[in-house]
Amino acid sequence: TRQFAVVGNPIEHSRSPELHQAFAKATGIDLHYCKRLAPLDGFAANIHAFFASGGAGLNVTVPFKEQAYQLCEVLTPRAQVARAVNTLWQQDGKLYGDNTDGQGLVDALNALGWNLDQAKILILGAGGATRGVMLPLAQAGARGIVVANRTLSRAQQLIDDVQPFINGSALSAIGLDQLSGQYDLVINATSASLSGEALLLPPELQFQQAYEMAYGKPSSFLAQAAQRGVPTSDGFSMLVGQAIEAFSIWNGVKPALADFLSLQS
Ligand code: ATR
Repeated sequence: TRQFAVVGNPIEHSRSPELHQAFAKATGIDLHYCKRLAPLDGFAANIHAFFASGGAGLNVTVPFKEQAYQLCEVLTPRAQVARAVNTLWQQDGKLYGDNTDGQGLVDALNALGWNLDQAKILILGAGGATRGVMLPLAQAGARGIVVANRTLSRAQQLIDDVQPFINGSALSAIGLDQLSGQYDLVINATSASLSGEALLLPPELQFQQAYEMAYGKPSSFLAQAAQRGVPTSDGFSMLVGQAIEAFSIWNGVKPALADFLSLQS
């Protein structure tokens, strides 16, 4: 039985074990998946102990994704763009790292039937959550991605950093107080909903679909979108999507995302 785990601090509320066990059952793969609480100053020791004891793969969550990125010997391009790693494994004695958040979001949007090819996308926020999804959204065929942030300079820096990796999608940065124009999709990647603060979507901003990366909490972003009558989704589908992408890297089988959305309730 191959051993998997998710490491974070805190870790008690992680839903990854339940998700990976559901994927394993659906695909007939035998595995164990548990939670690991690493001390804030003990992440590297914790993951090295896991792999030394024969562990096959690790997911990494808050607050260790950037440290995981630093420790990897081999990184996928999307992890390089993200500067954060949520999926680890060993190959030829080397530590490999990937970031499955962006593909998880793309798969979630596809499962909703929201078309990304040639889409004009607005992302609110310019932190790690946004950085993590830029390359997969561009590779899914987005025509343009505008990053809007409260601190404009941070959005500009993010665009400068990711631009060298991206072909075919026009990238730009604006301030959160400059929201206007027409978009196919708006994604809320700010932590505003988690802090309970409201983002105001002005009437000059128009969009056809709204995705909130957070889940399990009321979102004023989604409430405003719903009031306009556009389709909305919270981030549970992205959580499932990133887990499925990690599962498929480790096990070579990719379960269908739509089969697991009912786990939200
Ligand atoms: P994460 O890794 O979740 O992206 P982060 O790197 O701390 O977290 O980034 C949080 C993002 O939410 C930032 O874009 C932040 O804006 P600033 O860069 O201007 O700080 C944004 N954010 C947080 N609270 C917000 C609020 N109340 N209104 C608007 N944006 C907010």
